[in-house]
Amino acid sequence: MDERWNERWSRRGKIAANMNRPSRTAAEGMISFVYGDPDPDSLPLEQMARAADVLAENNRRDALSYANPVGPDGLSLALANKLHEDYGLDVTAEQVLLSLGAASGLGLVVDMLVDPGDVVLADAPAWMGATGMFRLAGAEVVGVEVDDEGVNPDRVLEAIDRLAAEGKAPKFLYTIPTFQNPSGVELSLERREKLAEIAQDKGLLILEDDAYIDLRFSGEPKPTIFGIAEPGTVLLFGTLSKTIAAGMRLGWCAGPADIIAVLSRGRTDSLRNTYTAALAEWFITTGQHRDHIAELRNIYSTKCSQMLTALEREMPEGASWTSPNGGFFIWVTLPDGVDALDLQPIAQENLVDYIPGTSFYSDGSGRNALRLSFSAVTEEQIDTGIARLAKVIREAM
Ligand SMILES: Cc1ncc(COP(=O)(O)O)c(C=O)c1O
Repeated sequence: MDERWNERWSRRGKIAANMNRPSRTAAEGMISFVYGDPDPDSLPLEQMARAADVLAENNRRDALSYANPVGPDGLSLALANKLHEDYGLDVTAEQVLLSLGAASGLGLVVDMLVDPGDVVLADAPAWMGATGMFRLAGAEVVGVEVDDEGVNPDRVLEAIDRLAAEGKAPKFLYTIPTFQNPSGVELSLERREKLAEIAQDKGLLILEDDAYIDLRFSGEPKPTIFGIAEPGTVLLFGTLSKTIAAGMRLGWCAGPADIIAVLSRGRTDSLRNTYTAALAEWFITTGQHRDHIAELRNIYSTKCSQMLTALEREMPEGASWTSPNGGFFIWVTLPDGVDALDLQPIAQENLVDYIPGTSFYSDGSGRNALRLSFSAVTEEQIDTGIARLAKVIREAM
């Protein structure tokens, strides 16, 4: 890079310049368990083409115009209805802010809440897209332990008390309660209730990221924290990336109408993604989205079982892994002494890839763990890839 750029970067630019993003293009022959991309064959290409035809047939020129990212109509309304029907949430279209994927909704909220030097709490491990955003905004990210039942509310309280002793209060807790990225676990009902209580008692804002909530293939559905908690204590983030198409860049943030209105004014590029929003609205309101989700649940259930069986068959003693009820991810804990970061180049030489656990922590922990995505690979690739991975782990032991 031209050295003059060292002087040009802003505070944010400097952080981004030093960030590392794995490439999205895998080497020839590589079986990549890296990305949480949706199953490519199931993307609803024909249905989206049909949706475009329907817009043309109905002279829907509004679908190519500027539009506000918040209700009262269109996709905001369709999503408000969906949240009511599927999750029992009393949300109006004015409470749903459309964003360019959940990532940009979260980014907007971070822009509006976080100043450099602020402290935020986040699941540990957590999706690095979110924690990376928090750091880019200049926040100190304090990780709160996630175990088999999700983030531990007692640890949340301890973190709040520890920070209070230093005269600080966290701006929010970021948590992924359902089929967590990266661990695949679900937050128990008891813990959801406890977090709602903490939010109320301690004035803690919760950012609930439920990107995978529609993709349950086993176990009993659980209420959202948003639905349990006092209104105003939780902002709920969702996305159509996992159940329609990531390329349409459609997500949302739900919260109190007055807060959503402020958020919608907070960013210059927060106009509605009008065209793709209109395509998605048709897909949802005609009931096809619901049918598609049912198909996706079957697809991911099969892939997940395939990976669990392969892990059972291939992994050496001492390795353990989570067994998710939905979503895209399995979290593997390696046998003692095996380091996922050191192992990665060797795995790549053996044409299998994953994300080392360290990418999901803010304090360097996670060397003994790794995340596997089963969503975008075929069943055959799962079998071959897990056999390759098990071999390199065994050789490293
Ligand atoms: C937990 C979580 N939240 C949000 C997102 C962002 O999705 P999008 O911006 O495509 O809606 C992802 C994508 O991987 C995710 O795993």
